[in-house]
Amino acid sequence: IQISDNWPGYSLDLFTYPQHYYGDLENVLIPHGIIVDRTERLAKDIMQDIGDNDIVVLCVLKGGYKFCADLVEHIKNLSRNSERFISMKVDFVRLKSYHNDQSMQDMQIIGGDDLSKLTGKDIVGTGRTMKVLLNNIEKYKPKMIKVASLLVKRTSRPDGYRPDYYGFEIPDLFVVGYALDYNEHFRDLNHICVINDHGKAKYRV
Ligand code: IMP
Ligand code: MG
Repeated sequence: IQISDNWPGYSLDLFTYPQHYYGDLENVLIPHGIIVDRTERLAKDIMQDIGDNDIVVLCVLKGGYKFCADLVEHIKNLSRNSERFISMKVDFVRLKSYHNDQSMQDMQIIGGDDLSKLTGKDIVGTGRTMKVLLNNIEKYKPKMIKVASLLVKRTSRPDGYRPDYYGFEIPDLFVVGYALDYNEHFRDLNHICVINDHGKAKYRV
């Protein structure tokens, strides 16, 4: 799903969201219900492609935890209602690279012991994070690696990485909610929203 640069988003007044974020957001870019519905379709596409292979879902924390959990839930439900049951293992890695809304040079990968076959991720911004992670996973020579990311940003940067599955292509804006954070804030917001200048200043570190 393409969200164009001139899409104004939904007015915040049309939805509910935590009171502690009143005044900090510009608009609702993607309401929670649409995120969940789109994720269900990604789960179906993934199921179709993996055939009879077992999978290891590698969730990229912290921003990917909501997407990963919903994706796994949908894969479970779809596979329960079909003939073939897909066996799934789940593992987690943590990556950290952002400071305020800027991608930082040094990146840490923490955790993850069972790296193979599939990854579940929150957002591909510049694509730098994903490339570092993939370089690390490829060392384990998995039979197949597929990357699922909820969001892909239209950045002007040339090293743009494209995941195998993604939910939405969005403008090059800093977004929060559905586990995506700005300096650890806004993870407790259900919708994906655009943060405003007031919000950025309030939670700047
Ligand atoms: P990249 O290396 O620029 O692709 O950044 C990827 C990571 O940065 C993601 O996994 C997110 O954790 C974080 N990130 C990038 N853009 C945003 C954003 O708009 N909001 C919140 N986090 C973001
Ligand atoms: Mg972050």
